[in-house]
Parts: sequence; C-alpha cells; structure tokens
Amino acid sequence: MDHHKEATQRFVRLRRLRRSRSLRQLAVETRLSPDRFIQPLFVTPGTGIRKEIPSLPGQPILSVDQLQKEGEDLLSLGVRAILLFGHPTTKDEWGSGAHDPDGTVQQAIRVLKRETPDLTVISDVCLCQYTNHGHCGIVVDREIDDDRTLPILARTAISHAEAGADIVAPSDMMDGRVAAIRGALDQAGHVQLPIASYSAKYASAFYSPFRDAAESAPQFGNRLSYQMDPANVREALREIATDIDEGADIVIVKPALAYLDVISHARARFDVPIAAYAVSGEYAMIKAASARGWINERQATLEILTGIVRAGANLVITYHAKEAARWIA
Ligand code: PBG
Repeated sequence: MDHHKEATQRFVRLRRLRRSRSLRQLAVETRLSPDRFIQPLFVTPGTGIRKEIPSLPGQPILSVDQLQKEGEDLLSLGVRAILLFGHPTTKDEWGSGAHDPDGTVQQAIRVLKRETPDLTVISDVCLCQYTNHGHCGIVVDREIDDDRTLPILARTAISHAEAGADIVAPSDMMDGRVAAIRGALDQAGHVQLPIASYSAKYASAFYSPFRDAAESAPQFGNRLSYQMDPANVREALREIATDIDEGADIVIVKPALAYLDVISHARARFDVPIAAYAVSGEYAMIKAASARGWINERQATLEILTGIVRAGANLVITYHAKEAARWIA
C-alpha cells in the first residue's frame, strides 16, 4: 500500500511553512517594531548625574542636562516615546512637589521638547514619589482619599501640559481621576492633550526595583486598597470601561507578563489603543537570570515582547526598549 498517499490524506502538514527562514518569515503573524516601544526614564535634580541602581541594571537615573543625549539615542534607534518619572526636591503630606511648575519632571519635559521635539513625552501623573508617606493619594486617618486626591492630580497634569507634555499618564488608581484630569485639562485649554490611563494596574510584587529607583515605597501599609487584586480580570475590564467613559485615549495594563489574558480580553472588547507595561521586576528577572548565564537575554526578551504584542498590546512600555530596538534592527 502507498504510505505516502495515505499519510497526506490523514493529516495537515503545518511544518511546510517552517522549513526555511524565508518561509517562516512569510508566515509570521506578529512583528516587533521599535515604534511600539516606550522607554521609561527617571530624572533627578542636579547636574551631571547618571546613576544606576543595582536592581535596574542599565537604567540610569539622569539629571535634566543628560536628557538631550538620551533622547537623541532613543530616536536614532527608532524608539519614539518615553515615559517620564521624577524625583522631587522635597516630599510632603500632599505631594505638592508633583505640580511644581519648576519641578524636575516639568523641567525635563521642557528640555526634551526643546531639544528632541520628535520624541513623544508621556509624563507619569502620580503622587507616590512626592508624598512623605509614599502613597499614591492623600491620606486621611490612614486611608487613601480619592476625592481629596483628584484636584491635586488634575493640577499635576496641567503643570505637565503647560511644560509641553505630549500625553499625560495617571498611574495612581484613584477612582474618577480620568474625568477629573480631562475636565481640568479642557478647562485650561488643553483639549487636544491625550490621556493614557493606567486603567488595570495590579498590586504587584514586580514593582520593587522601580520603587528603589523612584524612592516611592509606601511608608506604611500597602497599595491593596487602590491597586487591583492579581486574581481579577472582570474587574479590570470594568476599570478600563470606566476610564474610556471618562475620556481615556489609551489604556494601560500593568504589569504585562503575568497579565497577558487581561491584555487579550481588553483587546477583544475595546477599540482604544492598549499599552502594556513590562515593569521593573520583569526586566530585573531577565537581567538577573541572563547575568548568571541561565537564559539567553536577547531571545527571552524578544519572546516576551512578542507575546505581549501577540496578546493584543499596540504599545509596550519596556526597560528593554533600546536593546530590543537594536536586536530587531
Ligand atoms: C506608581 C507607579 C508604580 C510603577 C510606576 N508608577 C508602581 C508602584 O509603586 O505602585 C511601577 C513601574 C515599574 O515597576 O516598572 N505611581
């Protein structure tokens, strides 16, 4: 009997399109491109500062005078957007430093928009770096109070808009903050300024290197009363729906790797651009394992980034933006 004939009738040969690199390239479903990447940047007061922290290797905290070079490097690699975080000069109960017109972030935005206007500057709007208790909102009787926090967030967003930010990104997880920020921006004449909201932000163990870098760890308690429970996905969809309703132009899911299902559900349900934030701890894990020779950093990183895009993210906020851009060039 003719084995060959029988075999071709019985099964599909999916391997046909895997036989050579060029065939595989034709069959590729998901492609990475550096213009999907957003690089987080930390700025600190002072000059001539380029300081690395051990848990985020390769991610220097920069003073404002170092930003032009960083911006030019990113653009030359095809990375066209950054997400900006700042260190304040002082911290207080109300996070007042967040809306200081001469704060580090506001200065950084002005410098970047002057020196590298093609780079899209997204500014993180939150209070945790600026409060002496390290929480993302105003504390009343050891509880975080949304209603008291909203006007301060709105004021912070306006200070970023006035400095020239291209997009503001509230990451505090207070209820009603997108509506509050949208209303305040519109009233101040910034009707065209988009909001990228961290809609589904989970209370995650993967933020700890960031908290070393941003000096923003909570001084008492934790963030479980405002960030989401990692167990929940339906609630994430409600968070996203309310943010879109309140005027969010882009929604963010954070972290990324342990939340690919959240990205994919959000992609199926909503028609706004979705950004996924591959957070500091995700980056640190890859760096630590590859430093020991336990995984191949390049392959592992590109595999994860591809997975995030395949899940449905249009944009990926990643500390690997520069390296990944070089690897896929
Ligand atoms: C809070 C904020 C956090 C991150 C960015 N903004 C987390 C937090 O401290 O709750 C984490 C980002 C990262 O880990 O890369 N405003």
